[in-house]
Amino acid sequence: QLPKQVKIVEVGPRDGLQNEKEAVSAAVKIELVDRLSRAGFANIEAASFVSPKWVPQMATSAEVMAGIERRAGTLYSALTPNMQGFEAALAARADEVVIFGSASEAFSQRNINCSIAESIARFAPVAKAAKDHGLRLRGSISCAFGCPYQGEVPLDAVADVVKRMRDLGCDEIDIADTIGVATPRKTQAVMETAARAFALERISGHFHDTYGQALANIYASLELGVAIFHSSVSGLGGCPYAKGATGNVATEDVVYMLNGLGIETGIDLDLVVEAGAFISQQLGRKGASRAGNALLAK
Ligand code: HMG
Ligand code: MG
Repeated sequence: QLPKQVKIVEVGPRDGLQNEKEAVSAAVKIELVDRLSRAGFANIEAASFVSPKWVPQMATSAEVMAGIERRAGTLYSALTPNMQGFEAALAARADEVVIFGSASEAFSQRNINCSIAESIARFAPVAKAAKDHGLRLRGSISCAFGCPYQGEVPLDAVADVVKRMRDLGCDEIDIADTIGVATPRKTQAVMETAARAFALERISGHFHDTYGQALANIYASLELGVAIFHSSVSGLGGCPYAKGATGNVATEDVVYMLNGLGIETGIDLDLVVEAGAFISQQLGRKGASRAGNALLAK
């Protein structure tokens, strides 16, 4: 039996836009976030307080957070790799901070310039500060299904990082397929592994659609009872430190599938499609959501 309700975390403004080469203005990002808020998302990843030298596109995060209209019932999340990021997220009034690690040593080094163990040590004060300030804390685990640098990632490595994130006090843990290589049975094996270390209802699936497997992997996760998924409007995105990684699974496609399955999301698909058309037009290209394009062509 599939979950009756699913929470979709819209990550387009962060994961989606972080990889864009051309600068996207803060005004456009603000309009995108506001359109997504109006579409009914309970959680939007709107900012990333990382080094602007590493990810220039996210340098406007404070401006974006200051400019958006906060919708009651929507949590606005920000990535915070260290205390410097946390202080910025706190000042920007983020509702949730995201510490982001990896199940792959090689990817940890490339993405955040330290080992997995060092990253956990850096996250510890962030986690404590989040609790002290009453902010929600989410832990994201990259390369849980495979790594662009080391290839295979053992299940034990995933289990180990899930436990470390749990012990830091994470309210939610994301199991991420950074490079979109997972297939459904593999997805279930990794999700089952994660669920042995952390409450299933607080585990989320973060699937990139590089190999066209994301919807199938979401369905496979639903079969196990996973009820939180990340997606990007219009399928925006990729990770600058995962070469060839394409966007997250498109939100429109996920909502369309969940609607068809009779699963409640609280999201207005038409408004998501409009938000997707808006950002695609701003970026000067056709959106990558199949459902979005089909609905726009109607
Ligand atoms: P570092 O160079 O090791 O850090 O970078 P450092 O502490 O030595 O600092 C070096 C410089 O960075 C200093 O500036 C700091 O002030 C500055 P300088 O003195 O040279 O002028 N700095 C910062 N500036 C702003 N905000 C900060 C911050 N921290 C240091 N928070 C660091 C370490 C983690 C900062 C760096 O490696 C970095 O920013 N990496 C970015 C990684 C990133 O954003 N990746 C994409 C997001 S993760 C993702 O997309 C995956 C996900 O979607 C899940 C999935 O799909 O897998 C979540
Ligand atoms: Mg990602």
